[in-house]
Amino acid sequence: MVARVITVDPFDIVVFGATGDLAKRKLLPALYERDLAGQIPPDARIIGVSRRPMSRGEFQELARDSVEDRDGIDTIEAQRLARFLDRVDYVAVDAVSDEGWTDLKARLSEGGDRVRVFYLAVGPDLFDDICSRIGAHGLVTPQSRVVVEKPVGKNLASARKVNEAVGRVFPEDSIFRIDHYLGKETVQNLMALRFANALFEPVWNNAHIDHVQITVAESIGTAGRAGYYDTAGALRDMVQNHILQLLCLVAMEPPVSMDADAVRDEKLKVLKALVPIDERSAPHLTVRGQYRSGASAGGAVPGYLEELGSPESDTETFVALRAEIANWRWAGVPFYLRTGKRLPSRVSEIVVAFRPIPHSVFDGQAGPIMANRLVIRLQPDEGVKLWLMIKDPGPGGMRLQHVPLDMSFAEAFGVRNPDAYERLLMDVVRGNQTLFMRRDEVEAAWKWIDPILEAWRNSHEPPKPYTAGTWGPSASIALIERDGRTWMDD
Ligand code: BG6
Repeated sequence: MVARVITVDPFDIVVFGATGDLAKRKLLPALYERDLAGQIPPDARIIGVSRRPMSRGEFQELARDSVEDRDGIDTIEAQRLARFLDRVDYVAVDAVSDEGWTDLKARLSEGGDRVRVFYLAVGPDLFDDICSRIGAHGLVTPQSRVVVEKPVGKNLASARKVNEAVGRVFPEDSIFRIDHYLGKETVQNLMALRFANALFEPVWNNAHIDHVQITVAESIGTAGRAGYYDTAGALRDMVQNHILQLLCLVAMEPPVSMDADAVRDEKLKVLKALVPIDERSAPHLTVRGQYRSGASAGGAVPGYLEELGSPESDTETFVALRAEIANWRWAGVPFYLRTGKRLPSRVSEIVVAFRPIPHSVFDGQAGPIMANRLVIRLQPDEGVKLWLMIKDPGPGGMRLQHVPLDMSFAEAFGVRNPDAYERLLMDVVRGNQTLFMRRDEVEAAWKWIDPILEAWRNSHEPPKPYTAGTWGPSASIALIERDGRTWMDD
């Protein structure tokens, strides 16, 4: 099957932090892929911006390296790459002074009134400076949009400050707060599964669903980002954004349409209905861990503190939570959430565990009857599995087996799964905010996270150690087993 490609309008994208990790690993390769697919019109431009003085040719070399180094691609067509590099330009601009801004303005004015995207691939401490200079130098046009990378703040108060700073220059409908999990193919499939099939909606509630598990496991450690990570930790880095967004998509009411605000209104209601976790409940409902040295991906790996190069840190690299949503649909259904670094494998999935049958008509020979479950696998091997009970084939009586109806997207469709950034960047150009977070969503998520952070701070308990390459501290297993349930592997 060939993916359908609709060319977007001509645009200029200005990438602040153009020599940084995100631009190199994600943004430039994603733009290259879209160019290769024919989605980017011939005169679109990519303007790298950072403080470092650099010629256009030098930046083109950097862009070439980032395209050639990306994962999973072994052939690059020289001609296509040359065409892509032709779009790439560079302007040295200082975010915290007025240096370089008139050059940037001149370069942008060559593009006329086309779509203008300002991508802030920089730390949040620079958002205010950059946005106010974009405003002061008159770079905002009616067709301008700004893309803000996470983390949007470190807590509710700082998130508000960031939102206010960006909002002073850009109206909310041109602010794109990116959560790259929303651009993942299977995450969008979750919406297709729920709202394009009549099958699930009638059973998608507390009468039929026993509980939900969301796991985002990584086998890597801090991957050279220990400095940033130590100021964040797993709760801020993964739960406040990616995992809560997944939870919202599982739990939200059907939106009236796929219109951005219709979807975001429903997600917001879920965030507001999350039962607060406070100092009293945090010890029972949360587990935080930190990895020690161990073995991962086949080799010995250092512990978090060694990676950090510091003998002391209370930053969690693992978190497990038991969340509840206080509304008619979900009251009484626990949502178990867990994420961590240096776990045994990279796997992200959502398990919707249905209630057991009310009564068995089979005799003991049939074996145990397991409850149905729907597993939505985000990565790797994107797909959906529906676990059912069926009869063991052949003669010999009625014996039952638990087996999955298994749909692997790679096998079913045979197309390359685009990186989340490819989809999201094109949505920014199109001005479609459905897969981006609105200000009130981000703030509602922090409002739920803040008391957990505070409870941890006040408890003075260090994170529980776990050996790299294991599924986190044993307390995470106890968290779910206390309820008579277990973490499911698939
Ligand atoms: C980022 C986090 O948002 O997501 C990283 O800051 C994490 O710490 C990454 O590694 C995981 O993304 P993915 O797409 O590899 O699952």
